[in-house]
Order: sequence, then structure tokens, then C-alpha cells
Amino acid sequence: MTDLTLRHGLWSSRLAFVLAASGSAIGLGNIWKFPYLAGDNGGGAFVLVYLLCVVAIGIPIMMAETLLGRRGRQSPINTLRTLAAEAGAGGFWQGAGWLAVLAGFLILSYYSVIAGWAMAYILKVGGGFLNQSDAAAVRTAFLELKASPDLQVIWHTLFMLATLLIVGRGINDGIERATRIMMPALLLMLVLLDAYAMTTGSFQRGLAFLFQPDFSRLGGGSLLTAMGQAFFSLGLGMGSIMVYGAYLPDRASIAQSAWAVTLADTAVALAAGIAIFPIVFANGMEPTLGPGLIFETLPVAFAHMPGGALFGAVFFALVVLAALTSAIALIEPTIAYLSENRGLTRPEACLRAGLVCWLLGLGTVFSFNLWANRTWFGKNFFELIDFLTADLMLPVGGILVALFAGWVVESQVSEAELGSGRGYRLWRVTIRYLAPGAVGLVFLRAIGAI
Ligand code: TRP
Repeated sequence: MTDLTLRHGLWSSRLAFVLAASGSAIGLGNIWKFPYLAGDNGGGAFVLVYLLCVVAIGIPIMMAETLLGRRGRQSPINTLRTLAAEAGAGGFWQGAGWLAVLAGFLILSYYSVIAGWAMAYILKVGGGFLNQSDAAAVRTAFLELKASPDLQVIWHTLFMLATLLIVGRGINDGIERATRIMMPALLLMLVLLDAYAMTTGSFQRGLAFLFQPDFSRLGGGSLLTAMGQAFFSLGLGMGSIMVYGAYLPDRASIAQSAWAVTLADTAVALAAGIAIFPIVFANGMEPTLGPGLIFETLPVAFAHMPGGALFGAVFFALVVLAALTSAIALIEPTIAYLSENRGLTRPEACLRAGLVCWLLGLGTVFSFNLWANRTWFGKNFFELIDFLTADLMLPVGGILVALFAGWVVESQVSEAELGSGRGYRLWRVTIRYLAPGAVGLVFLRAIGAI
């Protein structure tokens, strides 16, 4: 094990792990997805259900992934193979590692395209374009961006390059150093935007929307949507946290780290909502417009506000930073695997994996223009990848992680990693029964079985 630890290196402290893992968790899921899902599902009641899922399911699974990673100290594929062999279980479990690595890779391919839109918007919004445009023109601009393969490919390429440059430099010089700078910057921008939202005059209304539960607006599917979102937002079920756990020093507390990461992720999702909804309400707009919330509704709102260009640009810079620290985590399992099994250096691994991921991303770009009419199972390329990953691979990955940590790994092993006591016993019951059961429901729902 020691030589494997040395090959990739270890985080220099627990804080470094918490920052990197928070960076993985805090992403488009918090700033783009969470607010529009809350908007579509009735606000406060959805938020409450979401919090419940995060605490009851999210934290135990995050602990499970971290402990598996630290125990195996390799990429998810090799970690699961090693731990399964140790426990006398079959080679089936290595397949779960493959699933995890592949899923992160697929998510990154479209994640990079959407992060690219946000990059384009920093310039668009900051460049004062909003000041001369009316609502219709702002909407048209979004459609134009989506209609242009060239523009999207340029931004997608830049975003991928930034990701690979960081990951290629390794755990300490790359990921750790980048997140140590980017996470505080992200926090600062968010606080600024929240302060700005307070000046809009609709702050109370925004807060009420987010925190006053109105259960009549909570649809039947909302519980399952909330659970899926908790998974995506915490970045679970895909080996990101597992591979980050592989670099965690032995003495650091896994439970405390998982709580810290989860709190940070949840706080940022809420703070993003607290910034967005007052700005939307202040301009007499509705928050229930789905995925277009931050790219269509919000820019129109910024256009009508004093300082809108500046704060709008800050908002999109925030989105890009958050996406970048997640993108790093999405590709790290692949890079770890390639350097372990194919003898590639990290830069070589980044080059190859990055190229394939970039090519896949073109499919997402084209699904908004050149391939707009091409569908597979009734979905365009982007929707297909999103469905495959977020709705299928992610819950399956989560169930497998929970089953593996709860039933395959011996209790002496998990107890040694997590520490004994009441907390441990609670974790074990949750990870054996509640987590696989609850996530199983999400999955059955996604495939239309219930
Ligand atoms: N959690 C990130 C977000 O909220 C995305 C992400 C990073 C992710 N790593 C992951 C999603 C692993 C699923 C699995 O945007």
C-alpha cells in the first residue's frame, strides 16, 4: 500500500481534503440546478425535503466512499478490486469501479460545455451588452450561443484545457493548490452577491420563497428529484470522493470531513438561491422557468439593475470557478486509473483522457444545433448522456457503494476507518438498509418502473 500512496501523493492536511472535496461537491449542481429545481418544485417544501435527503442518505454514503478510498488508496477500479479480493468477494465489484470512472468521464463531457456557456456570459454580461438590450434580445443571445457550434467549441476547449492543466500537475501542486485559492474566492463572490441581493428590495420575498414550506406545491416526484439532486450535488456514486479519499492521511476523521463538505455544499446551494431569487423577483419575473433560470431569466434581471453588469459578471465568474473545481474531480478517477494501470505519467494521462472527453463534448455542442434533430430513444445527445449518468449510473453507483461498504467490507475494517461508538452503529444501519433502499427508489423511478 505504501508505494501506492507515494505514487499519487497525499493531501497535505485534512483541510486540503475538505477544500478539494467541497470543490468537487460545489458546482453547477448548486448554482444552476438547485435554484431552478427549487423554483419548479415549490421552493421551501422542496428545500426541506432536500435537506433531509442530504443528512439521512448523503452523509452516510459520502463517509462510505471516503473510507473505501482511503482503505484502497488507488483509483476506484483498483480500490474496489483490491478490497473485494481482501474480503473474499467476486470480481463483479471491479465492474462497479468501471461504472464510476466512466460516469465521471461522461458527466465532464457535457459539464464542460455548460461551464463554457458561463464563461461566454462573463464577457457578455460584464461587457455591458445588457445595458442596451431588452428582455427579448437577452433571450435571443442565449439562443444564438446555443445555435453556434463554433463559439461553444471554443469555450468548451478553453474550459477543458484549464481543467487538464490543473489536474496534470498532480495532487499537491495541481488540485490542492488550485482549490486553496479558488474556494475562498468563490465564497467571497457569493457573499458579495448575497449582499447585493439584499439591496434589491425583494430580499424578504426571496427568502420566503426559499424557506417557507408550502407543501401543496410539492409534487409527487419531488421527493425523488430531491434525492437525485442531493446525490449529484454532493458528487456521490461516481468515484470522485472515493479517489479523493484515497489521498486522505490516515489519522484524519472521515465523519468530520464528510460533515464539513456536506455543510459547505448545502450552504452554497442555499446562498446561491438567496442571491438569485430576490434578483428575479425584484424584476417581476417568475423563478419557475426551468434550466434557463440562470442563462435567460437572471441576465434579464441583471439588465435592469444598477451595477447589474458588474455583479452579473461576478455571478458568472462564480459559476465558472465552481464548475472548474468539480471538473477536476470528475476526471481525477480516470487519470488515477491510467497512471496506475497504463504506466502513463499524469500529463500523458490528461492529454489522452482529455482528448476523448473533449470529443464526446462535441456531441453535446452539436445536440443544440447540427444534431438538433438526431435522437436516440427520444433524446438528443446531451439529454441522453445526462439521463444515462445522472438518472441511471449515479444511483446504481450509489447503491453499489452502499452495499459494498455495508455488506462486503468487514465491520472491523469500516470500524477501524470510521471509529467505533454510537455514530458508527448508526452509520452501519443506514448504509446497509436505508441508503440502498432509498436510492433504489430513485433508480426505479428513473427507469419508469414506479
Ligand atoms: N457535484 C458537482 C455539482 O454539484 C458535480 C460533480 C462532481 C459530480 N463530481 C461528481 C456529480 C461526481 C456526480 C458525481 O455540480
